[in-house]
Amino acid sequence: MSSFWSAWIIIFTLVVLVGCLVLLTWNLKNYVGVSEDETTGHEHDGISELNNPLPKWWTYMFYITLAWSLLYLAAYPGLGNYKGFLNWTSSNQGILSLEESEQATIAAREAGMNVQLDREIARADEVYGPVFRQFAERDVLDLAYDPEALRIGQRLFLQNCAQCHGSDARGQRGFPNLTNNDWQWGGTPDKIKETLLYGRKAAMPGFKDALGEQGIREMTAFVLSLSGRTVNQRDAEAGQAKFAMCAACHGNDGKGSVAHNLPFGAPNLTNNIWLYGGSAADVTETLVQGRYGEMPAFRHTLGEDKVHILTAYVYRLSNPEPKQN
Ligand code: HEC
Ligand code: HEC
Repeated sequence: MSSFWSAWIIIFTLVVLVGCLVLLTWNLKNYVGVSEDETTGHEHDGISELNNPLPKWWTYMFYITLAWSLLYLAAYPGLGNYKGFLNWTSSNQGILSLEESEQATIAAREAGMNVQLDREIARADEVYGPVFRQFAERDVLDLAYDPEALRIGQRLFLQNCAQCHGSDARGQRGFPNLTNNDWQWGGTPDKIKETLLYGRKAAMPGFKDALGEQGIREMTAFVLSLSGRTVNQRDAEAGQAKFAMCAACHGNDGKGSVAHNLPFGAPNLTNNIWLYGGSAADVTETLVQGRYGEMPAFRHTLGEDKVHILTAYVYRLSNPEPKQN
């Protein structure tokens, strides 16, 4: 509160209190010169007005109330910015003042958070946290075949992942299918968990300048030939000759980062599974403008325990049978 409004409130309150005091005192004096219960001489339609002041005990109550209010205002915060001589603070330590909680709410809204939802999630975490904890202590390969863990995993997936990967996890353009055992970043439990915890940022640069229009056409032909498509042979060969500039990420055979144990998330180009579409036009677009897919991190929003259960759920999607070892 600004000091102007603080002063305004203090002065206004005190003036009103003093006003009450003056009014009371004035009221107690007998100005009419008529003793109590005598007529004042005013008469209307046979009804005469007697001098009938407020009972004494009543007016003393007013004095006590006034004294109490002054004492209270002096002792406790409430008068503008004045903190009170008792230096009293809320005993609800840790609970925000109304002003603080409003500020927190506004900040949270600005950060795009749904505060009510957060509170409900926090409450749910109290109840279900121990359940998640129990699952989190078990191995992913074990959870992936536990019906109860999968049920929870599916619910978490529908709430947090389906908007991008689809409720059947088969993905859509730009959002990978998670059911086909084709991985950009790796399909082992550890790699999947890493993806979910920390997110992934793919960076496939555009080659418009490096290759030129003809170079793009030739490279498109070569890329399509990698998955067995019929293309112009001469173009494909010319593209292949320049594939070295792609091999650092996709591997020299085009089988992708995972096959070569590389950390770039470059997809396998030989299996006819496409993240951005497999038509000549789609591949040309990829080569011209580049692709920068981003998978969000869930370490903070979901926490490790839920991510662990989701890892099992995602692993199971492309591994319907337990591995024999
Ligand atoms: C905002 C959209 C979005 C949401 C929400 C999202 N993802 Fe993703 N996810 C992506 C994108 C985009 C990629 C591909 C990143 C890239 O291009 O490398 C991806 C990649 C992945 C991968 C790596 C696939 C691979 O081939 O290595 C996994 C696993 C995955 N997501 C699982 C999940 C799970 C589980 C959730 C829910 C907890 C989730 N995603 C939520 C957009 C999303
Ligand atoms: C710096 C590493 C890097 C280089 C170099 C690179 N790529 Fe990529 N490429 C990627 C990544 C990462 C993706 C996945 C992009 C995404 O997920 O958003 C990708 C995606 C693609 C795709 C899309 C695949 C799909 O499923 O839709 C094609 C096609 C492709 N690259 C071809 C090439 C060719 C051809 C070259 C060489 C001219 C090349 N890339 C060079 C990293 C690279």
